[in-house]
Amino acid sequence: MLEIQISEKKLDEIASDCEIILVLEKNFDHRWVKDKTLLEKLHFKGEGFESAFLVEKDRIYVSIEKFERDAIRRGVASALKRIKKSNYKHAKIGSYVKDCPPIYTKAIVEGALLGSYSFNRYKSKVTPSSLQKLTISLEEYHEKTLNPESAQKAVEEAKIIAQATNFAKDIVNSTPDDMTPTQLAQEAEKLAKDLEGVECFVGDEKFLQEQKMGAFLAVSRASAHPPRFIHLTYKPQNAVAKYVFVGKGLTYDSGGLSLKPSEHMVTMKADKSGSASALAILKGAAELKLPFEVHAVIGACENMIGGNAYKPDDVLVAKNGVTIEVRNTDAEGRLVLADCLCYASELKPDYLVDLATLTGACVVALGEYSSGVMGHSSELKHQMLQAAQKSGELAGTLPFNDYLKNLLKSQIADISNISSSRYGGAITAGLFLDRFVSDELKEKWLHLDIAGPAYVEKAWGYNQAGASGAGVRMALYWLKDHYYQHNSYHKKEKK
Ligand code: BES
Ligand code: ZN
Ligand code: ZN
Repeated sequence: MLEIQISEKKLDEIASDCEIILVLEKNFDHRWVKDKTLLEKLHFKGEGFESAFLVEKDRIYVSIEKFERDAIRRGVASALKRIKKSNYKHAKIGSYVKDCPPIYTKAIVEGALLGSYSFNRYKSKVTPSSLQKLTISLEEYHEKTLNPESAQKAVEEAKIIAQATNFAKDIVNSTPDDMTPTQLAQEAEKLAKDLEGVECFVGDEKFLQEQKMGAFLAVSRASAHPPRFIHLTYKPQNAVAKYVFVGKGLTYDSGGLSLKPSEHMVTMKADKSGSASALAILKGAAELKLPFEVHAVIGACENMIGGNAYKPDDVLVAKNGVTIEVRNTDAEGRLVLADCLCYASELKPDYLVDLATLTGACVVALGEYSSGVMGHSSELKHQMLQAAQKSGELAGTLPFNDYLKNLLKSQIADISNISSSRYGGAITAGLFLDRFVSDELKEKWLHLDIAGPAYVEKAWGYNQAGASGAGVRMALYWLKDHYYQHNSYHKKEKK
């Protein structure tokens, strides 16, 4: 993995074999732009992440539109992508703005680590990248605020967040046969072993029966791979609040008897993305040593066909006693989540967030790069959107309403697993989940539909083709924001 370090030396004094220069759009007058004439000769216009690799000078220029975190992430990622194709071993980059706030240092690190991820598990031949190290110069830090300590902290934090995201990508990119519910549970157990203060409980079919998780059991019934219920807990001493993240862990979604057409079935290995993100968020929170109790509750199973498959027309009974008419077995994620949300509600958290590749309708509504944020609390939705913005993830809210809720009525049971209308499918799925969130938690609950960005078959920004770890960064930034708020509140109280 790429090693990242900071240096108090001036950029020009750092020995490296390659230099990255971010050019603020059309501004060739920064003193680090040493090749103005050459760039002009090359017609380097400096528009939107265009890069010029002056190999003879060992310098790569990438233009970014403004000094804003995500532009920095994208610029650094794009430079490293080019450098990695060559023979360079050690690259350096400056911190640009006077008084450079640590958020930019973080953005450099995140862009570098997210952008240089690659998934090679199934390639017989892998050419390792020669690039091993990136040094960030602290030169432009204002003398008074020059604080290598805070910069180092920023680097560590960004590393944790980017690595958690890449960890989720590895799980999602693995094939359905390599990441069965049992293997996913093993990943969770391994995480618990590696992390301080983390414990893991894994429940099998017998546990699901004891818990009366009838909806979850029905979905997993036709699979050759048994289901797993996974509950990870990170419990630091003196925790100040409790968060539960619930993840949809469909290790494969064939659609079940309401079988998906072949072109929609490919990529359904990614239907476990919510669970991968929940694991990654817990890993990140534990490594950041946040003073919060964080739980990851995961329903892992496969949605398959067979003589014992659950069927349209079945009526299932969820953990909280609510009866569900099955009208489409491809709307399985909400069934698994129903039981998991009941279980999560019983943990009585301060905040409850579920992550799921729940609906194609969400992708239609927002496009494939954005997650849908739903819930009853405007304040909470706003917080998550702001956190997403800082983290570089894209998200938009989709509003609940009572008319859409009415479309879930069933003639034979308490609720139907699909809406009677073809419109508003992402929201009706969210409203279905609402039925399984306890009353006390309604205002403390968020539903993140990550069906679009969790897995995109073409590379975008600093994301590779395949999994992106959607939800991980926004949730970790959200938790960090809560932590800062908590801290400043207590400082004020002391005064
Ligand atoms: N896993 C899918 C949703 C999905 C679609 C994820 C595209 C990623 C990309 C989910 O289980 C599903 O099949 N949903 C159905 C719901 C419908 C039957 C009401 C859908 O979106 O078509
Ligand atoms: Zn489905
Ligand atoms: Zn699904």
